[in-house]
Amino acid sequence: MKLVLKQPDDWHLHLRDREAMHSVLAHTAARFGRAIIMPNLRTPVTDTGAARDYRQRILDALPANAGFRPLMTLYLTDNTDAAEIIRAHESGYIHAVKLYPAGATTNSAAGVTRMENTWSALEAMQDCGMPLLVHGEVTAPEVDVFDREMVFIDKILEPLLRRFPTLKLVLEHITTRQGIEFVLRGGDQVAGTLTAHHLLLNRNAIFAGGIRPHHYCLPILKREAHREALLEAATGGNPKFFLGTDSAPHARHAKESACGCAGLYTSHAAIELYAEAFEQLDRLDRLEGFASVFGADFYGLPHNETQITLLKEDWQVPESYPLGSAELVPMRAGEVVHWRLGAQ
Ligand code: NCD
Ligand code: ZN
Repeated sequence: MKLVLKQPDDWHLHLRDREAMHSVLAHTAARFGRAIIMPNLRTPVTDTGAARDYRQRILDALPANAGFRPLMTLYLTDNTDAAEIIRAHESGYIHAVKLYPAGATTNSAAGVTRMENTWSALEAMQDCGMPLLVHGEVTAPEVDVFDREMVFIDKILEPLLRRFPTLKLVLEHITTRQGIEFVLRGGDQVAGTLTAHHLLLNRNAIFAGGIRPHHYCLPILKREAHREALLEAATGGNPKFFLGTDSAPHARHAKESACGCAGLYTSHAAIELYAEAFEQLDRLDRLEGFASVFGADFYGLPHNETQITLLKEDWQVPESYPLGSAELVPMRAGEVVHWRLGAQ
């Protein structure tokens, strides 16, 4: 079996920087036309100048004749002002602003401590149509790690939408039924991204026969009933839901540790893994909308004119890939993926 799709885009990607970026970029560039690049570098990308420099480093690292285009984001802090938002918007290469609650995930220490501190930035974003991309988890230690998304929706997102009723907002890497319902309740300006790993795995994968650090990510994998709700949303043909891998490379030693980092790496087989998920519900005909159309429409960008081919063929994922001078362990390491990317 063969599937031809308009070239897809990845609306949530961690590329890192320098040598690590050089190691992973080709996986994404082989599959996707564009990607929204997350700004959570060790020194976060908090202003337009830093985003311009980071974008240039990505362009310089691309394989020759790659058609891939990075779409940059700014990292929202307590101090981001309206003037910076306007500068970012006018740059033409910054397409969104990312909200990390301080302490929620990797490199989020400089994130937002109180939403009130962001009002002037959010007002400027609402005015110029710049989307807010949300890592939707509360950080309060008394809230159970499996409930953090649900509580964030009630405590933070619902009031935020009431205050900024026309702000474009993407709930990133949705992991719960409540996250899906939040997006469905919102107007056309509210959308959500879904990762391949949250469509394919439930939380048992973290504990299968022992503790599996390579299945630890944030938001953490949830129960099977939530996975089923995500898969239904992804394959349902609703343009509010589109592809965002959240592929997040970490060195093997940083994950196989007494305090392992959060993140799954899926860029090596991203669109192939989504094809597996859509096949589970026999809805491969809906993959192109989800992967190649709805995200571009939400961001007001044209669809890609190129195409990719997917073949229904098994291949074995390597045990590891290089990550700078270290290595990373990809999703399905040493195991089989059931779709293969055809030659272009
Ligand atoms: C991401 C990372 O490593 O940068 N990790 C993750 O588990 N998804 C950060 C994030 O998106 O939360
Ligand atoms: Zn992410």
